[in-house]
Amino acid sequence: TSQWKLPDHPKLPKGKTVAVVVLDGWGEANADQYNCIAVADTPTMDSLKQGAPDKWRLVKAHGTAVGLPTEDDMGNSEVGHNALGAGRIYAQGAKLVDFALASGKIFQGEGFKYIEECLENGTLHLIGLLSDGGVHSRLDQLQLLLKGAAEHGAKRIRVHILTDGRDVLDGSSVGFVEILEKDLEELRKKGVDAQIASGGGRMYVTMDRYENDWGVVKRGWDAQVLGEAPYKFRSAVEAVKKLREDLKVSDQYIPPFVIVDENGKPVGPIVDGDAVVTINFRADRMVMVAKAFEYENFDKFDRVRFPKIRYAGMLQYDGELKLPSHYLVEPPEIERTSGEYLVHNGIRTFACSETVKFGHVTFFWNGNRSGYFNPELEEYVEIPSDSGITFNVQPKMKALEIAEKTREVILSRRFDQVRVNLPNGDMVGHTGDIEATVVACKAADDAVKMILDAIEQVGGIYVVTADHGNAEDMVKRNKSGQPLLDKNGNIQILTSHTLQPVPVAIGGPGLAPGVRFRKDVSKAGLANVAATVMNLHGFEAPSDYEPTLIEVIDN
Ligand code: 3PG
Ligand code: CO
Repeated sequence: TSQWKLPDHPKLPKGKTVAVVVLDGWGEANADQYNCIAVADTPTMDSLKQGAPDKWRLVKAHGTAVGLPTEDDMGNSEVGHNALGAGRIYAQGAKLVDFALASGKIFQGEGFKYIEECLENGTLHLIGLLSDGGVHSRLDQLQLLLKGAAEHGAKRIRVHILTDGRDVLDGSSVGFVEILEKDLEELRKKGVDAQIASGGGRMYVTMDRYENDWGVVKRGWDAQVLGEAPYKFRSAVEAVKKLREDLKVSDQYIPPFVIVDENGKPVGPIVDGDAVVTINFRADRMVMVAKAFEYENFDKFDRVRFPKIRYAGMLQYDGELKLPSHYLVEPPEIERTSGEYLVHNGIRTFACSETVKFGHVTFFWNGNRSGYFNPELEEYVEIPSDSGITFNVQPKMKALEIAEKTREVILSRRFDQVRVNLPNGDMVGHTGDIEATVVACKAADDAVKMILDAIEQVGGIYVVTADHGNAEDMVKRNKSGQPLLDKNGNIQILTSHTLQPVPVAIGGPGLAPGVRFRKDVSKAGLANVAATVMNLHGFEAPSDYEPTLIEVIDN
């Protein structure tokens, strides 16, 4: 229909194969021993940087440039891929929840009203990631929610914590649990029966994504709903400290535990008549658990008991599935994404990654929308990730398989846009294993080379970029950039993303002569990439999109 028709670009041709390659967790930073990208042998990415100065640049991938509350917010894949695909900057979940809490509107909304009816006689359970990472959740939001819920009638509250160490420093969980315990004590002084009821590490309990491993969600269910876990403690601080020490596990991988009373009875299983809120605002790692709480018919694991509860998400996690049907805050309404436009304009689109990032180049790219716009023009391929391992064990992950599939698809000339995510820098970077991350960066670089070679063969165009930083900085630093040491004199490994900018490189034999990066969009961010890609397909971008990065000079 006419609403979707994009104007022809006045100077750029149609019909070129465009490969859009997103290196996950690949930022730009000064070279030193903690910059795994600089340490690794990455000739392909190096040559893009050194080759053509007007075809390589940096863009912002964090903070307000991607719709996050402040410039101190590091980038992440959700907001990064949203911006890359949507071409505009939307206030993201973190910000929307902040607004709703600050104005008190969260307690007037449909979602809270829905669970409120259980607060008189039932328990309010809050489940979510406990840290100030700001990627999936934030401690200060949980604190405000606890306080507000108590003011709005919650008499019995149980918190089911998921320890982080991935968006924040490993080992920081103890501190977060201590802060939460203090808050709960304050609530108890005010007559609210409030306690932590269970816990576990985010990568081992509850927060799986893209159906990589339902066992993760099951372990959470057993602890949170059934009150069953391999470890039982009287206090959560003790649990986190002891499990870390005894089992030598990081915060991310703490096994499930339940808190028990003096008789050894779990203090907070979820039962009929209770209310449950998952406090994460970010979608990807909540979709699976939301299904477990919401779906009457469910066969992913044996729930044993399916309590009659009222369940709400902090946000709605999947707009297509309307999941969950109740939520405290409206998610950003990302519409008219570049993917949808291009498909409406006949661009045959292929997208691919391995499981752990598959939804990033599909669901997030398409504005948190599952499925195809037009199955006749699109194909999305998921390469199964290794599951049940930490990725430092297999740092090459499926880079080769992704690149091979992509090459085959490019050479087949069946698609106009071929879009991939290479997860290595990010997934291995999150493990904090520097040596493995170096191997990961090389694997990603090898994959880029294979894809660019195929583009060369078909006379196509490439756009190589990243969604946020990670592997380029593996150490926590002071303000002047020096590595910070802990009290034992060891460096503090940075498992999280960073505030660094990311590269964008364009090229390929199909790139029209005269195309170069403009010099007048110095403040560009990831959202500027969408219009750029539309141009390279021969179209002008919609006028409300962030401006294109390229211009065409006559020569
Ligand atoms: C995760 O969910 O693994 C991290 O919190 C963020 O990683 P991503 O934003 O790169 O997916
Ligand atoms: Co990441």
